[in-house]
Amino acid sequence: MDVEELKKLVAREALKFIEDDMVIGLGTGSTTAYFIRYLGQMIERGQLEDVYGVPTSHQARLLALEHGIPVVSLDEVDAIDVAVDGADEVDPSLNLIKGRGAALTMEKIIEYRAGTFVVLVDEGKLVEYLGKKMPVPIEVIPAAWKAIKEELEIFNARAELRMGIRKDGPVVTENGNFILDAWFERIDDPLDMEIELNTIPGVVENGIFADIADIVLVGTRDGVKRLE
Ligand code: 5RP
Repeated sequence: MDVEELKKLVAREALKFIEDDMVIGLGTGSTTAYFIRYLGQMIERGQLEDVYGVPTSHQARLLALEHGIPVVSLDEVDAIDVAVDGADEVDPSLNLIKGRGAALTMEKIIEYRAGTFVVLVDEGKLVEYLGKKMPVPIEVIPAAWKAIKEELEIFNARAELRMGIRKDGPVVTENGNFILDAWFERIDDPLDMEIELNTIPGVVENGIFADIADIVLVGTRDGVKRLE
């Protein structure tokens, strides 16, 4: 089974958490894209009624609309029942690094508030400690990017401004900000690091999601493994 098949496997499994009358946080990225597609198919077949999606990005919003999922914004709902999203790294305590899709701020806003936050990954994303394979994306106010890049040296982190695919300019988030990708030697206390990074003036949000995930569905060659 290749990685795409593993993504589809966990995306299908996540449907088991969805019931009629739910408000669902819709994550961003290639794994969640499968979930959104399958959710739309269930609605189309009449297997689910009165479900609404709260998207974490333009990408998730457009996909949801394309697949017939009614979309609402956070300020139109009283609560989010379940949020479903991918991740870039998952440690043994289910702390995450997220944000390759640059949607980390809205993702955290929505997923922090979900009754149940379900994370979808393939087994290659399980790590012994955060920062092992991936940098921590940090959304920053554009005017402060260079200062913050230097300040991150206090944490022994080497940060790079994320550039667009053509490398002719920085990635600009949906909030109009830049992303610094910060490589740490090792993140031993994710909750502490998440809080510390957000105290730097000019940091909008960072991609450490400590203590937020309730359930992680891991796609493996032997099927879906459930961590909680
Ligand atoms: C976007 C994210 C994604 O959920 C994360 O990057 C995983 O993406 P994919 O499912 O494509 O591997 O955090 O900001």
